Amino acid sequence: MDKFEAAFNELIEKELKIEPRDWMPEKYREHLIRQVSQHAHSEVIGMQPEGNWLLRAPSLRSKQVLLAKIQDEAGHGLYLYSVAETLGISRQEMVQQLHEGKAKYSSIFNYPTLTWADMGAVGWLVDGAAITNQVSLQRTSYGPYSRGMVRICKEESFHQRQGYEIMMQMAFGTPEQKEMAQDALNRFWFPALMMFGPHDKDSAHSSQAMKWKIKIESNDHLRQKFIDHTVKQIEYLGLKSPDPNMKWNEATGHYDHSPFNWDEFWNVVNGNGPCNQERLDHHKKVHNDNKWVREAAAAYALKTETQVA
Ligand code: 3HC
Repeated sequence: MDKFEAAFNELIEKELKIEPRDWMPEKYREHLIRQVSQHAHSEVIGMQPEGNWLLRAPSLRSKQVLLAKIQDEAGHGLYLYSVAETLGISRQEMVQQLHEGKAKYSSIFNYPTLTWADMGAVGWLVDGAAITNQVSLQRTSYGPYSRGMVRICKEESFHQRQGYEIMMQMAFGTPEQKEMAQDALNRFWFPALMMFGPHDKDSAHSSQAMKWKIKIESNDHLRQKFIDHTVKQIEYLGLKSPDPNMKWNEATGHYDHSPFNWDEFWNVVNGNGPCNQERLDHHKKVHNDNKWVREAAAAYALKTETQVA
């Protein structure tokens, strides 16, 4: 092992951060580019399901809050694209990989948002699951990713509260509103649990990710953590668990749950979910429609650069 690899391993061992200028194994760089770019794509594509309700929000306040949340997600995407760029990939390459189906984004965003209660379920469950994963990622070994997570987690907490507030309004509202809240919970519960990825034994990347401390806690560990603290929130709302086998297991100290439908998961991940085509078509259209904005910004940057030089 040469001195560079030894230095890299020592930094990982001591849980110190790997910075962009540090030597790193090519496979470590590729692993991070894959994960971080897909994380960024998820943040950006994730704006679509919520944008779908912006013009139909039931009050000015709920519209303002939803708009603020969506704008936060755009910012999270930009932080994460910038983190990936420190690893040597350009924004253009990442967007091209997304458009060509060579890069993924979180499966959850391929489900439709059918009612206003879905805005509650998305904020509460999707952002809640994302927080569980991202709080853990604050300790990831790559410095820019870790620092980006600290900033993002602060804003995600607002997102989760925003969703849970909607769920409380609906669950404690009229019988029809409570029914909408229950329907949204039923539709989003299992897809939200799939956000944590396949079981550890079936995960292609987890063991290496844990060795490099890119991943600090495993897919199944984080999923169980999310289940354990969300079940109590379901009970507080007076809603029924979507999983008939969800029950406290005194022996393990966790909630038992039904097996997951991995055929559905991989079907959605591989592009055959309810909204995959719609999400990608929309991203491509908006990206092309806004080409002039990128060109104008680049021209202005070049002009000011030459003036300063
Ligand atoms: N949706 C789509 N693809 C998924 C997935 C999901 N829910 N879970 C796993 N996959 C993919 C992986 O990307 C990998 O495919 P690839 O080799 O083509 O990249 C394959 O399935 C095998 O999964 P692994 O568990 O082995 O992969 P990872 O070790 O990368 O773990 C992960 C998956 C836990 C999602 C990890 O990548 C991760 O922690 N990513 C960062 C967090 C993230 O991306 N969250 C997405 C949601 S962001 C969000 O919700 C925004 C919020 O503001 C609403």
